[in-house]
Amino acid sequence: MNKQILSALALLMGGALLSSGSVLAAESAADGIAQYREMLSDGGNPADLIVDTGKELWAEKRGPKNASLEKCDLGMGPGVVKGAYAHMPRYFKDADKVMDLESRLLYCMVNLQGMDAAGVIKKAISKSGEYSSDMESLVGYVVAQSKGVKIAVPQTNQHERDAFARGKEIFFFRGGPYDFACASCHSVTGQRIRLQDLPNLTKAGPAQEAYSSWPAYRVSQGALRTMQWRLQDCFRQQRMPVLKYGSQASIDLTVFLGVNASGGHMAAPGLKR
Ligand code: HEC
Repeated sequence: MNKQILSALALLMGGALLSSGSVLAAESAADGIAQYREMLSDGGNPADLIVDTGKELWAEKRGPKNASLEKCDLGMGPGVVKGAYAHMPRYFKDADKVMDLESRLLYCMVNLQGMDAAGVIKKAISKSGEYSSDMESLVGYVVAQSKGVKIAVPQTNQHERDAFARGKEIFFFRGGPYDFACASCHSVTGQRIRLQDLPNLTKAGPAQEAYSSWPAYRVSQGALRTMQWRLQDCFRQQRMPVLKYGSQASIDLTVFLGVNASGGHMAAPGLKR
C-alpha cells in the first residue's frame, strides 16, 4: 500500500495523524473520504460486487413458493426497478401502507416467495465480517438502478402526507438520557462531532447530499449499509431504544428525510468512512 492510500485510510478510520512530518489535523474525515473515493474511481465502489449479487438474487427462484422477485411491484409496476428507489417510500394499495424499499422487499419476499418475515428481519443487517445479507444485496441492486434519477418522494395522498408529518415529529422529538432529538445533531449548519460533519437535514442542499448517498458501502465496516441501518445507528447515537427494523417509525423518518431531499439526484450506493 502506498503512503497516499495509507494516509487516506488513516483519516477514514478516525482522523489519525501520520508521522510524515506534516500535520494533517486540519484535514477532516470528509477530505479523507473524498481522497479515497478518487483513488477507487478506477476500480469502482466495493458495493458494485454486492449490487451484482443482488441482481442475481432478484431473478432467482427462491423460498417455499419457488418464485423470483421479478413480479415485485416497487411502485412503478411489477418488476420495474429502474428509478423505483427515487420514488420511495410511497403508499402501496395492496398493503394499505406507506413502505420504504426495505419493508417493501420484505413484503415481496413474504408474499411472492413465501419467506418468513421474522427470519428475514433477523438476518437483514449483516454482522461485522459477514458477507452482505440477501436484503442488503437486493437493496444495493435496486438502489443502483436509480443512479442519477431525481429524488421525488411522493406526497400525493393522505397516507403519504401523514407519514411525513409523523416523521417530522419524530425528527424533532427530544428524548433519552441526553434529551437529544435527531434535530439536536442535524438541524444546525456547520456542526461536527469529532471529525465528522453533521449534515443539516432540514435544509435542501445538505439533505439532498446525505439522502442521495445512502445506502452506502461503509469502509470501516466492510459492508453495504442500508437506510434502515443508518437510522438504527443514529437512534443509538441518540441513546434511544433500538429502532425496530421496518417499523412504521423508521419508514416515517425516511419519508421526512426523502421529501426534504426531493429535487436532488440519487448517487447511491455511496462510499462512507
Ligand atoms: C448525537 C448526535 C446524533 C443524533 C442525535 C442523530 N445523529 Fe444522525 N448522524 C450523526 C453522526 C455522527 C453521523 C455521521 C456518522 C458517520 O459518518 O459514521 C450521522 C449521520 C446521519 C445520516 C447520514 C448523513 C450522511 O451524509 O451520510 C443521516 C441520514 C442521519 N444521521 C439521520 C439521523 C436521524 C433521522 C436521527 C434521529 C433519529 C439522527 N440522525 C440522530 C449523529 C447524530
